[in-house]
Amino acid sequence: MSRKILVTTALPYANGSIHLGHILEGIQADIWVRFQKAVGNECYFFCADDTHGTPIMLAAKKNNTSPEEYIKKVHLDHEKDLRAFEINYDKYYTTNSNENKELAEEIYTKLKSKGHISSREIEQTYCEHDKMFLPDRFIKGTCPKCGAKDQYGDNCEVCGSTYSPTDLKESYCAICGNTPVLKFSKHLFFKLQDFEKPLRNWLTSPNRLHEGSKKKLLEWFESGLQEWDISRDGPYFGFQIPGEENKYFYVWLDAPIGYMAASRKFFETNPSVFDSFWKNPGSEIVHFIGKDILYFHGLFWPAMLMGSDFQTPSKINVHGFMTVAGEKMSKSRGTFVNAATFSKYNDVEHFRFYMAARLSSGLDDVDISFEDFISRVNSDFIGNLVNIVSRVATSILDKLDRRLGNISPEGQRILNQLLASKEEIMKNYEDRNFHKVIREVTSLGDVVNKYVNDLAPWILIKTDPEAARLVITDALNAAKILFSYISPIVPKASQTVAEFLGYNSGFTFQNLNSFVENINLPIYKAISQRPDEKGIKSMIEETKIEFEKMQTTNSTVGSKSPQGNIDTKSGLEDGTISIEDLVKVELRVGLITESNHVDGADKLIQVTVDLGEIGKKNVFAGIKAAYKPEDLLNLKVVVVANLKPRKMKFGMSEAMLLASGSGENLSLFIPHREAKPGDLLK
Ligand code: 2FM
Ligand code: ZN
Repeated sequence: MSRKILVTTALPYANGSIHLGHILEGIQADIWVRFQKAVGNECYFFCADDTHGTPIMLAAKKNNTSPEEYIKKVHLDHEKDLRAFEINYDKYYTTNSNENKELAEEIYTKLKSKGHISSREIEQTYCEHDKMFLPDRFIKGTCPKCGAKDQYGDNCEVCGSTYSPTDLKESYCAICGNTPVLKFSKHLFFKLQDFEKPLRNWLTSPNRLHEGSKKKLLEWFESGLQEWDISRDGPYFGFQIPGEENKYFYVWLDAPIGYMAASRKFFETNPSVFDSFWKNPGSEIVHFIGKDILYFHGLFWPAMLMGSDFQTPSKINVHGFMTVAGEKMSKSRGTFVNAATFSKYNDVEHFRFYMAARLSSGLDDVDISFEDFISRVNSDFIGNLVNIVSRVATSILDKLDRRLGNISPEGQRILNQLLASKEEIMKNYEDRNFHKVIREVTSLGDVVNKYVNDLAPWILIKTDPEAARLVITDALNAAKILFSYISPIVPKASQTVAEFLGYNSGFTFQNLNSFVENINLPIYKAISQRPDEKGIKSMIEETKIEFEKMQTTNSTVGSKSPQGNIDTKSGLEDGTISIEDLVKVELRVGLITESNHVDGADKLIQVTVDLGEIGKKNVFAGIKAAYKPEDLLNLKVVVVANLKPRKMKFGMSEAMLLASGSGENLSLFIPHREAKPGDLLK
C-alpha cells in the first residue's frame, strides 16, 4: 500500500546565501524524497525562507530597503541556488506569507485557549538610541566571569561560560555602540512543561529519532522543561500577536509553522489534502534538520502541534555538520563555499553523487574533501557506471547499425544478480544509508565492467558481430538497472540513460524488470563529463575573493561599527593609555609544550606554555574554531605573561595568548623563529 509522506528541510535564514551546508541537507532529503516517489509513495517535499527577526530587519535597513523587498530578492537567489542542485521541492515558500500568518495565529490562539500561554514582565536591555530591545547577539560587553572584552550577550567565546545579557559588564549596543538601559516589558511564554509527559512518549516511541538525538533530548528533560519566551517587542519584522499591542511572534515560533504554510499554499486548490497530512495519524511528517536545531524540533515544535491538535512529526532525521578535510568550513581557506559558486564551476550531479557516498543516517559530521570528490567521481561514477554505457554505445554500436539483439543467457545471469540487490538497496535508501547504496551499485558496476572486459566486444566484433551485439545488449540492460538504482541520486544522468534506451518518462523502481531487446538506439549523448581540478581551483579562488571583499566592506563599516566605537570607550577617557600602563604588560615568547581538548568546552583548548626562566603556565585559550590541539604543539606564540591568574570553569588560566581575528579566522601571533621561550617583547 502506498504511504503518504510529507518531507521538509530546515528553512534557510533569509539573511545569507545558500552554502554547501544547506546543500548537504537539501541533497540528503531530496534523494530520500525521489526514492519515495520512485517506489510509488505519495510524497511531497517542502521548504521556505525563514524571513523574520531582528537580523533581517537590520540587514534590510543597512541595504536601504524594506524587509519585504530584501527577503524577496534573497528568496529568488535561494530558490535558484537550491534548484541548481536539483533539489526538487514541490513548493519553496516564505514564512512571510498569509498562510503562515493565519496558521501562526490559529496555533497561538488554540494554545492560549487551552491555557498553555502565560505572561509576565521581564527586564531586558534596551537601546534608547535605536529604540529597541536588544536580543542576545545585539548586545556585547565584558564577560562577567573572565573579563574578556567584546563578548556576546549570551556566552563568552573565551572562557565558554553562559550568562544572560544583563550580567555583561560595560555592555554596549552592537548596532550603535551606546550603553543600553534596562527596561521592563511584558512577554508571552509557551508553557512547554505542560507537555512533559506526551513529549516524552512521543520522543521515545520507536523509529522517531536516531538514538543519539533521543539521548540528547532526554538530557534536556532532566534539567526540567522551561517555559519558552515566544514574544518580541516592536520594532520587529514578523507577525503581530493577536490581542496584544506592539508584540510580535518570535521568529522561531513561526519558522516551523512555515513547513505547514508551504504545504497549505501547495494544496490551496484542494485544502482537504492539507488536512490529510497535518490532521491524519496515518500519514507521515518527516523533517530533515541539522543537529544544531534539534532543541526546537524535538521539544517546542511537537509540543506546539500537540497543543493545537495537529499531527506531530513522525520522524526527525538529524545530520551532523559538513566539514572539509576534517576542519570546519572556513571562508578564509576558501572552503566555506556558496552553492552558486560551486555550481558555477562544477557539475552538481557530481556533488550529489559524492554527497551520497558520504551520507549515512547518523549524527556524525559529514567530512568531504575536494580531492577526494574528484577522484571518487572519476573512479566510481564516470569510470565505472557511466563507462558501462559509453564504452558500448558509441562507434562499436555504429558498426552494428545501432541495433540491439537479445539478452544472452550469461547476460541474464548478471541481470538477475543485479536485480537480487533491489531489496537491500531499497532498505538502504529508506534508512538514509546512501553510502551503502553507492557501495553496492558500484560493486555491481564492477561485475558488469568485468563481464564486458572479459568478452571484449570491440575485438569480438571483428570475428563474430552477432556475439558482440549480445554483449552490448547485456551491458546496456545492466546499465538500465544500475541507473534506475541511482536515479534518486543523479536524476539527470539517469534520465539521459533512460531516454537513450527509450524510457522517455524516466526509470522507476517499478520498471526494473523490463528490458530492451531488438530495438534501434539513437546517437549516444554524453551522460556526464569527467570532473577536473580546474573547476575546484576556480571555486576556491572565488570563495577567497568573496571573503576578502566581505572583510574590506566590514572594515570600512567598522570605523562606524560598535567595534569602532567601543575601542575608544574601553580605554581611558580619550581612548589612550599611558607608557607607564603599557610597560606593566609583560609580553613574552612562549613555547607550547602541551595542548589538549577541554571536555565540555566547544571553544577552548588547554595549553601549557613554557616561558623559559619564568617557568610553565597553564592557559585556556578560546581558539578551537581556528586550531586543533595537535597543530599547536611546539609552536612559539606571544603570551601576556603577567596576567593575574583567573579561575575559569575548567581550571586556572594563568596567561593569555595574543591573536588577531576571531572564530575560524583567528590567528595567533607567531614570533620570529629565532626567538627563545621567555624572551621579552619590547
Ligand atoms: O537554523 C536556521 O537556519 C533556521 N532558519 C532554521 C529554521 S527551521 C524551521 F524550524 F523553520
Ligand atoms: Zn543602539
